[in-house]
Amino acid sequence: MSRVTLSRYLIEQTRSHNTPADLRFLIEVVARACKAISHQVSKGALGGVLGSMETENVQGEVQKKLDVLSNEILLEANEWGGHLAGMASEEMDNAYQIPGRYPKGAYLLVFDPLDGSSNIDVNVSVGTIFSVLRCPDRNGECGDLGEEAFLQPGTEQVAAGYAIYGPQTMLLLTLGNGVKGFTLDRELGSFVLTHDDIRVPETTQEFAINMSNQRHWEAPVQRYVGELLAGETGPLEKNYNMRWIASMVADVHRILTRGGLFMYPRDSREPEKPGKLRLMYEANPMSFIIEQAGGAATNGSQRILDIQPTSLHQRVAVFLGSKEEVERVTAYHQE
Ligand code: AHG
Ligand code: MN
Ligand code: MN
Repeated sequence: MSRVTLSRYLIEQTRSHNTPADLRFLIEVVARACKAISHQVSKGALGGVLGSMETENVQGEVQKKLDVLSNEILLEANEWGGHLAGMASEEMDNAYQIPGRYPKGAYLLVFDPLDGSSNIDVNVSVGTIFSVLRCPDRNGECGDLGEEAFLQPGTEQVAAGYAIYGPQTMLLLTLGNGVKGFTLDRELGSFVLTHDDIRVPETTQEFAINMSNQRHWEAPVQRYVGELLAGETGPLEKNYNMRWIASMVADVHRILTRGGLFMYPRDSREPEKPGKLRLMYEANPMSFIIEQAGGAATNGSQRILDIQPTSLHQRVAVFLGSKEEVERVTAYHQE
């Protein structure tokens, strides 16, 4: 059987689901940028890409060289094609304006250029997360895009995906009708469809959380994780296994592959910030993918995709993965 490349998949989506040609182009360009990032990541010390910059991003995190490089690769790949009205990124304080010399398009691209930065220097999987929104109708005005244009709930996403740079480089993609997984064939330079119709099992015996923050968690999370740890002698009457990679892409990828629950709850360390992960370019795209694969994603009290964002870099608590466990921990928050 002939292999289905990402290009062929996208063209077939246009035929079967009317995927617009400019959205198809957008996804191809993002995928090309991810190949370039994958190439840089794989060079490691030989390419001089490890280590940190002297700069901080808007979150006050020290930027790694690869955070900045990946951001530049995505901007350069996407600014000239005429498919975007603007971009926003973890690594930029404000919305990125498409330079005046290029045409503008109908879409907004939001990304975490390099997720799992703390794993770069230790040769553990990292990734790129992206979300695609439509640019709201601005009455034909093409002036500078403000932050407001991006502040749409996750339900408005027209596409989302991530690339994972691990033992294999893969691209996981949803256009709103299921989740497809593509593996990079480095000899051909193409993403090839290898994982058709990815589904998250509804039940699981595996969870992911940074246990070192336990003393800061709120009561419902204390209760729930306590029950997970109690295993078959506790109220849940089964033993659970734990994984924590500290790259959201890698933890989510495991869940898409074999099920599980991922948690980054809000905690009392920085009470004014609800959790660590960012809504627009981490939680929303991942929640869209997880839901499209039959899983669920909440912030403890609300479906993540329904949250109305109020700022570009806002944070959110995240519980996502196998439906049964997400529902359980969400119910504990509601009790
Ligand atoms: P980023 O590298 O884009 O800042 O994201 C890191 C995130 C996420 O990938 C991961 O789940 C989490 O931070 C790990 O945080 P801890 O170090 O607190 O475990
Ligand atoms: Mn991240
Ligand atoms: Mn990042």
